[in-house]
Amino acid sequence: MNPRPSILVARAIFPEVIASLREHFEVDTNDDDVALTPEQLAQRLQGKVGVLTTGSERVDAALLAACPGLRVAANIAVGFNNFDVPAMTAAGVLGTNTPDVLTETTADFGFALIMATARRLTESEHFLRAGKWNKWALDMFAGADVHGSTLGILGMGRIGQAIARRGAHGFGMKVIYHNRSRLDAAIEADLRASYVSKDQLLQQADHLILVLPYSAESHHAIGAAEIARMKPTATLVNIARGGIVDDAALAAALRERRIAAAGLDVFEGEPKVHPDLLTVPNVVLTPHIASATLATRRAMAQLAADNVIAYLTQGQALTPLNPEVIRA
Ligand code: GLV
Repeated sequence: MNPRPSILVARAIFPEVIASLREHFEVDTNDDDVALTPEQLAQRLQGKVGVLTTGSERVDAALLAACPGLRVAANIAVGFNNFDVPAMTAAGVLGTNTPDVLTETTADFGFALIMATARRLTESEHFLRAGKWNKWALDMFAGADVHGSTLGILGMGRIGQAIARRGAHGFGMKVIYHNRSRLDAAIEADLRASYVSKDQLLQQADHLILVLPYSAESHHAIGAAEIARMKPTATLVNIARGGIVDDAALAAALRERRIAAAGLDVFEGEPKVHPDLLTVPNVVLTPHIASATLATRRAMAQLAADNVIAYLTQGQALTPLNPEVIRA
């Protein structure tokens, strides 16, 4: 009998998901959840055909060259900028991600950040915790209304659309969006969202949320010049990826109140956070948790596992990034 294939789960995940993998494979786990260096990852992948990764592990040409036996890498994330997909395709390695299962949860969080940012939630909590609240005042932490305002969405994939629906249907917002490609008229009508140029989006939004994938093209899509186009009363929320916003330029703009406030779940070079962002008061900061409900994180891990199982046992995948590898 052939030995069972071996795989690596690069970070700590749910025991029931590991159990489902163990029905098919020898599974090496990282129960202590140590963040592996590229060298450690390559070393742990020797003799293995599959890996479950998170956004913290890179699957690039160097890793692929060091791990010629690898056949599939399943990212426990919808974003996959940690994968060099062309290099994976060239090496015949299937990549998969976790779309759909996190859409609504992530959109909820997008709204949580919009509301926390507009209504100065963490700033006022810090004030209270610091014992500075000694009297009520009419203008104390007066923020911006969310209901009835103009919501701008940059990037209009599944999550952008779920945010649009919440804004238009739940909060009576005027929803405008910009995306590489315009949605069908029927979808726009259903969402009650209007397509505008990026410049119009920047100028008109009261609350601007970023939900676009990170790539060379979207690097610093929001920098000093773009922030300068925004209303001084506007808020900016990034739940997409670090690097889409120029964090240094944003921190400077927040300090000078060139926009009112920002809410950030993702950062350039995270888990490091630009030191200037830690000292400006008008920013809500969270540690990349937009999809973090137990149910959704479990569903993401299980989908990644199911992709590996389907590919290595049946030559199929549920959510492939480079399906040409399957057909090859
Ligand atoms: C999280 O950031 C994801 O891409 O799923």
